[in-house]
Amino acid sequence: MDYHAARAALEWQMELGADEPIGDLPVNRYEVAAEVPKPAAVVEPVAAAEADPVEVARQAAAAATGLESLAEIQSAYEHCEIRKGARNFVFADGNPEARVMILGEAPGRDEDREGRPFVGRAGQLLDRMFSAIGLARTAHHADEALYITNVMPWRPPQNRDPEPDEIAMMLPFVTRHVEFVNPDILVLMGNTPCAAALGKRGILRLRGHWTEAFGRPAMPMTHPAYLLRNPAAKREAWADLLEIKARLKGMP
Ligand code: URA
Repeated sequence: MDYHAARAALEWQMELGADEPIGDLPVNRYEVAAEVPKPAAVVEPVAAAEADPVEVARQAAAAATGLESLAEIQSAYEHCEIRKGARNFVFADGNPEARVMILGEAPGRDEDREGRPFVGRAGQLLDRMFSAIGLARTAHHADEALYITNVMPWRPPQNRDPEPDEIAMMLPFVTRHVEFVNPDILVLMGNTPCAAALGKRGILRLRGHWTEAFGRPAMPMTHPAYLLRNPAAKREAWADLLEIKARLKGMP
C-alpha cells in the first residue's frame, strides 16, 4: 500500500468513528522493551549529568557587567520552567540611580503583556503610595526616584506563587541586580521577596520592621494587591511609608 492509499484507508476508518489504532495481533511490550537498545544519552554519563540550575544562575549572574548585560543574561537563562509560559521578560522600571529600590513578587497579566513591572491595578496603587512620600519611578533626581523590579522576571502560570526552587534560581540574579543599583533602602513588597531576601515568609508579621537584606536596610511591606483586597491594612502601609521617608531623610 503506498502513502496515499494508506492515508485514504486511515481517513475512511476515522470517518467511521475509529479514534485509536489497534494492531491485529497482541504485542508483548515487555519483550519489545528488552530488545530496544538504550538511547545514547542514558549510556553517556556526561550527557546524563544535569547542571545545577542555581550554580548555572550564579555563574551567569557573575558574568554580568552592568544592568543591561544582566537583563540580557537573565533573559537567556533557560532553567526556569516559568519562562516557557510567559509572553515577556519583565526586568525593571524606573531610575537606576534611585535611593529606593522596590523588590516585588512576579509579573501579573498586565506586566507580562507590557514587559514592565507593576503596571496593573496593584502597580497603580504602588505609584500612588510612593508618590505620597515624594517618590516616583519617573523622577530624574535620585532623591525622588524609585527603581522597581521583581524576584521573578516571568509571569507564573495562573499567577501562582513561585516555588522555592524557582526563587533559588533567581536569587543570584536578584543579588546582582541589587549590587548594580546599589540603593540606600530596599522595599520587600510581599512574601516572595521576603522568602528570597530573608529566607522567611509571613509578611503580616514582618511588615513595618526594619531588617537587612543584601547588606542594606530593608523594609518589608504588604503588597499593594493585598491592600486592594484589604483596604483596612492601608493605615499600616502608610506608617511603613513614613518610616521609609524618615530613614531616607536621616541618611547621608
Ligand atoms: N505584583 C508584583 O509583585 N509585581 C508586579 O510586577 C506586578 C504585580
